[in-house]
This record gives sequence, structure tokens and C-alpha cells, in this order.
Amino acid sequence: MKIAIDGPAGAGKSSAAKEVARRLGYKYLDTGAMYRAITVKALAKNIDLQDEGELVALAKSCELEVKDDVEKGNLILLNGKDITEEIRQPHVNQVVSIVAASPGVRRELVHLQRKAALNSGNIVMEGRDIGTNVLTDADFKFYLSATVEERAKRRWLEMREKGIEISFNELREEISMRDRLDQEREDSPLCIASDACVIDTTPYSLAEVVDKILSIISGD
Ligand code: DC
Repeated sequence: MKIAIDGPAGAGKSSAAKEVARRLGYKYLDTGAMYRAITVKALAKNIDLQDEGELVALAKSCELEVKDDVEKGNLILLNGKDITEEIRQPHVNQVVSIVAASPGVRRELVHLQRKAALNSGNIVMEGRDIGTNVLTDADFKFYLSATVEERAKRRWLEMREKGIEISFNELREEISMRDRLDQEREDSPLCIASDACVIDTTPYSLAEVVDKILSIISGD
């Protein structure tokens, strides 16, 4: 069974996908974390993020490992180093959409994502193009949305809990900008798959969203 969960930043995808996977006993894969890992490496190597050739060479040379973790959902290891915390830092948020727009980087990562689905049997995969590109044959496709205001609020609270200080307005601007970049890029932009079930999560708690998804999957 393959379950695809897509949507913009802060719509509740990660928390919902992680919990759905846990409840069903399925593997969970956060594909955004993979684009973030390549971004961390590109920043560390001071690569020009507009240089497609350099980005692709970097993506090909990276040894990216995604492990299951009961608490965090996924652990991200890049060339053996755990960068699970680092990929969520504000400097990565600011530029990850540029790296994710690279067709060559996408080709490399989509290949790994399809391989993970093939090897794991049952999987909940979340991202931006899972239902429309990575797993077009997924058994269930969900698209989670929420207003920019609500998404910025959730992200702000999340970051504050981790001790990361950022102004709410700055965060809302950044989320709007990432939405634009993710929706307007040429290669597999963020959009709703024609056969996806759309859930506007604005008025719902995480538990309610998870219940909705599980009840659709079980056919209740
Ligand atoms: O979900 P996230 O915020 O961790 O995603 C990070 C970036 O990666 C974001 O700009 C969207 C992009 N992304 C993508 O283009 N395709 C995916 N399947 C997952 C994420």
C-alpha cells in the first residue's frame, strides 16, 4: 500500500503523515528532508545555487540515508553524519526551494524515493509532488492545505519550541515566497493531483486530520 501526502509548508503534512504511518505500521518518508539535506551540503560547500551542473554533481556525490526513528519520524544522514536538526535551521528554509527547483537534483532524489517505495512495501510518503509525479499509482492521495496565516502560526510555534527565534511576519513572508517558488517552478510544481482527496486543515487539530485520513483509507 502506498499513501501520498502533499501540500504546502506548514499544512500539517509531516505530523499527520508520521502519525498515519505509525498507526498503520507503515514506513514513513519525508521527501522534503532529502531536498533539505542537499541544501545543507550545497551551503557548506559554498556552491552557487543557480548553477545546475554543480548542484547535480553534488547531489550525485552525496550519500543520503534516511532512517526510521520513533520520535523524529526520519533521521537524515549525509555521508554518515546525522544532520536531522541542521536541515530545519532558518538559513536552510530560506534557500531550499531554489535547490528543489533544480531538475537534476529532482531526478536524483525522485529515483531514491521510488526505490524506497519499492523496497518498503507499505509506505506513507510526503512532499510536494508525490501524488502527481513520484507515486502516481499511489493507493491513496491526500493534499493538505491551510491558510498562509495558520501555516505561519504553526511553524512559528514549532520553531519557538525548538528555541529558534524568528519574527512571525518574517516567517509568513518566507512561507509565501516558498509557496510561490514551489508552485511556479517548471519541474513537477506543487499542485493538486486530479485524484487526490483535499483536506483544508485550518480548523482542525492534528488528531482530527489523522482521523480523517485513516477513515478514508479504511473506507469508513
Ligand atoms: O516540506 P519541506 O518544507 O521540508 O520541503 C522543503 C523544500 O523542498 C520545499 O521548498 C519544497 C521542496 N520539496 C519538493 O519540491 N518536493 C518534494 N517532494 C518535497 C519537498
